[in-house]
Amino acid sequence: MKADCLLIDCHAATMAESDVPYGAIKDAAVVIADGRITWIGPRADLPPVQAETIERLDGRWLTPGLIDCHTHLVFGGDRSGEFEQRLGGATYEDIARAGGGIVASVQATRAASEEDLFLSARVRLEGLKATGVTTVEIKSGYGLDRESELKMLRVAKRIGREGGVRVCTTYLGLHAVPPEYRSDRSAYIDKAINDMLPAAHAEGLVDAVDAYCEPIAFSREEVSRLFDRAQALGLPLKLHADQLSDGGGAELAARYRALSADHIEYVTGAGVAAMAKAGVVAVLLPGAFFMLRETQAPPVDLLRAHGVRIAVATDCNPGTSPVVSMTDALNLACVQFRLTPEEALAGATREAARALGLQDQAGVLQAGRAADLAAWDISRPAELAYWLGKPMLHARWISGIRS
Ligand code: NIG
Ligand code: FE
Repeated sequence: MKADCLLIDCHAATMAESDVPYGAIKDAAVVIADGRITWIGPRADLPPVQAETIERLDGRWLTPGLIDCHTHLVFGGDRSGEFEQRLGGATYEDIARAGGGIVASVQATRAASEEDLFLSARVRLEGLKATGVTTVEIKSGYGLDRESELKMLRVAKRIGREGGVRVCTTYLGLHAVPPEYRSDRSAYIDKAINDMLPAAHAEGLVDAVDAYCEPIAFSREEVSRLFDRAQALGLPLKLHADQLSDGGGAELAARYRALSADHIEYVTGAGVAAMAKAGVVAVLLPGAFFMLRETQAPPVDLLRAHGVRIAVATDCNPGTSPVVSMTDALNLACVQFRLTPEEALAGATREAARALGLQDQAGVLQAGRAADLAAWDISRPAELAYWLGKPMLHARWISGIRS
């Protein structure tokens, strides 16, 4: 067998579903050709290979490249002032209702040039990459007018071309009502659905559509109108659901067979059952839970009991989750939500791929999938969720290209 690269002297946490924890293969070998994994298994079983390069990993662990399946990575400014206000007693909802919150980031994002947005996002991106991330989902939603939403999505696509990661873009026009439409929200919703979304889609800027379903944001009826239009355009759906209250968001996501329902701290048993039936992934966002000092965790036992797939993401955003480390997100998910380190890592690989519709392409180390890998200076996979802030990454590969 001919190959571009052969990795040996390593252990592989393949994250394939198996009875072996982490789908682990001790003393593994990985064969990469044309950007894909063409063979992986115990080195003892390795067939003869003629590889251009052979890399010895000195006993390090390999995992799938990590997938951050929910971020708002592109935005102007920051909201550290609101952080201080919240520590002084104000709630996230108080600040949003007083015209701060998302709307404050909208003003800063509209004012920023495309170049500035790219440069500031790239700094945050470096944090994610340093923690093994090879795929990032990036949402719009701080533009909230046609040009500014397109600007955000163009920046996200540019990150995909120049940033050294794969990018999935998500249109989040229903994130908040912008100030100029406060007295006419239905006019804004019409525009977001019938003007902004088709324009972004026509430019090839939209891989999925998301909305913020919450009393301080958009109702189920409003989100349904967006989802109908998105489905007519053939776009997959995601939903910020039941984060601060139970609004039936999970049921709505299930009704539309969305890829994922995200946050879901307040989801009910009926919502979880609906998600299970429709195969909706639960994306847990422990950074936002932590920063908002929330007390009601997502019902992880119930999700497990119903067999709902669980992903974990940073939710990197200026308001509720200024988190730029995927491994820190794993730690927060374990400590706050009691995921096991194995569940958390599956949530940042196999299940995150599913939450983006990439389950046949990435998220697991197996023959046929993209050669997106991370090599780590750890002696057990659980270390990835154990340390906070420790640099552990040795190398990343995207489509077999090492960095
Ligand atoms: O995922 N929940 C809505 N969106 C973000 C927060 C956005 C913001 O406050 O800027 C989230 O937590
Ligand atoms: Fe979010």
